[in-house]
Amino acid sequence: MAKKTLSAEKNKDKEILSVNSKNNNNNITIARKKIINKEYSIFKKIGVVTSVADGIVSLIGMSTVAYGETVEIITAQSKIVCLVLNVENQKIGAIILDADTHVKPGQYVISRDVLLSVPTGEALLGRIIDPLGKPVDDKGPIVSRGYRMVEIIAPSIISRTPVNLPLETGLKVVDSIIPIGHGQRELIIGDSKTGKTSIALDAILNQKNNDTLCIYVAIGQKRSSVARIAKVLEKKDCLKSTIILAATASESAALQFVAPYCGVAMAEYFMNLGLRVLVIYDDLTKHAISYRQLSLLLRRPPGREGYPGDIFYVHSRLLERAANLLNSGSITALPIVETIQSDVSAYIPTNVISITDGQIFLDRELFSSGIRPAVSPGLSVSRVGSAAQNNALKGMAGSLKLELAQFREVEGFTKLGFALDDATTQLIERGVRLTRLLVQKHNKPVSMDKQILFLYSALRGYLDWMPANTVPRFEQAFFDFYSESVYNYPLEGTLSIKNNKLPEEVVHYLVYSFTEGFFINSNLFVNA
Ligand SMILES: Nc1ncnc2c1ncn2[C@@H]1O[C@H](COP(=O)(O)OP(=O)(O)O)[C@@H](O)[C@H]1O
Ligand SMILES: [Mg+2]
Repeated sequence: MAKKTLSAEKNKDKEILSVNSKNNNNNITIARKKIINKEYSIFKKIGVVTSVADGIVSLIGMSTVAYGETVEIITAQSKIVCLVLNVENQKIGAIILDADTHVKPGQYVISRDVLLSVPTGEALLGRIIDPLGKPVDDKGPIVSRGYRMVEIIAPSIISRTPVNLPLETGLKVVDSIIPIGHGQRELIIGDSKTGKTSIALDAILNQKNNDTLCIYVAIGQKRSSVARIAKVLEKKDCLKSTIILAATASESAALQFVAPYCGVAMAEYFMNLGLRVLVIYDDLTKHAISYRQLSLLLRRPPGREGYPGDIFYVHSRLLERAANLLNSGSITALPIVETIQSDVSAYIPTNVISITDGQIFLDRELFSSGIRPAVSPGLSVSRVGSAAQNNALKGMAGSLKLELAQFREVEGFTKLGFALDDATTQLIERGVRLTRLLVQKHNKPVSMDKQILFLYSALRGYLDWMPANTVPRFEQAFFDFYSESVYNYPLEGTLSIKNNKLPEEVVHYLVYSFTEGFFINSNLFVNA
């Protein structure tokens, strides 16, 4: 009896295949009806394209397919991979992760019971790849260490440990006021062209001399920008420990949407091996826009600002995968969000601010007045990073923050031209110098010991006597002096060791002797 039913079903399957191979509309309609009625068991794994538009395909059949699975459309030219995002009663919606020019209604789709996976491994380091791991540079094919699923659950609470190791960015303003630790998620937020990407790039450049690997995920960026970043990394010899994952503006919304998940999946491979990884998502605003586009095309209801209701979950499940694990592996995430007219209260910025452990807020006004990196000390915070901050720097960061805040409060008075009392004048003079001191060119990271010494000299008043515009010259000369004389002083290494107190006498002697020499050698005497 059972045998009979099976052979009858087989015959039916054959019949439907031969009907469809003629590929005319009439037959498709008959086939569709039969598929909808689930008459054929073969259609548990095979479906048919019913419509295709804007990178979205509607499918019927494949009654066992699941959300997040990849299916393949068989076209005359190749197999085209799609990701299933909608599973409805009689219809499946999937996004095409490839060019959709050859996809037509009536083509067969095969489900292979696999969730979306990307290649991972050391072979990806130093390469520019697309989200699915295909190389887009000219360095030949990639032989990867196997595949890893793109959507997996974030590491459990048990396997995590609090942030305890600093991730030095080499930027004076970030390392002192808004310190970042391995495993942290720190948002970089600001208007366009305020130096967001530059901060992330500096952080990558500063990992050159330690064993932190970096993954730069470009979402909706210009190809020329990605090429420029690759060139800078190559020139500074940092590309070899970096993966550039590019879903540029010319790529489909589907590829832009999956890009950050693919990036973090690649990072997880290294994290599970006990290595430290820094991942940059540049930027999540464009990611949200690509998801909005897909959701609207999949006919999901729009919510606030047109974004689908699950946009928060889209970003939170991505950023939750950043972690500091007990096995000493970690993923540090630096997501970037672009604001319009500094409006941080818009939907996506508020979402991502609430998911992350702090934000570096970049101010357009500061940027145009030449204070770059344009980090606003008042609006930027790091909620967990100070637990991992270098102790010597932590000691000074407190007074730096306080003096900058006091300066901001009284700064306005200078513009009114009032006569000020001595204390206020001194506060303003110090504030101007401190602000000047935190200015830094991009692509020029400063080592931790130099940062500590420079900050020490400013906070102890060594810079108070010089005109504010001499500060950069002083800085350069001081750093040169320190590099040359480092062997004369028992400082090398000691400043950057955690839990180490500042060797105050030595530092004082070093700073004092240099400042004196600088004062005499420069023609400041004449100016004074
Ligand atoms: N610290 C800096 N000093 C000088 N110029 C900078 C600095 N940071 C960024 N820039 C310049 O500002 C421009 C915009 O920077 P970018 O990082 O691309 O901004 P965003 O990513 O916010 O759009 C770039 O041309 C870059 O050269
Ligand atoms: Mg940018």
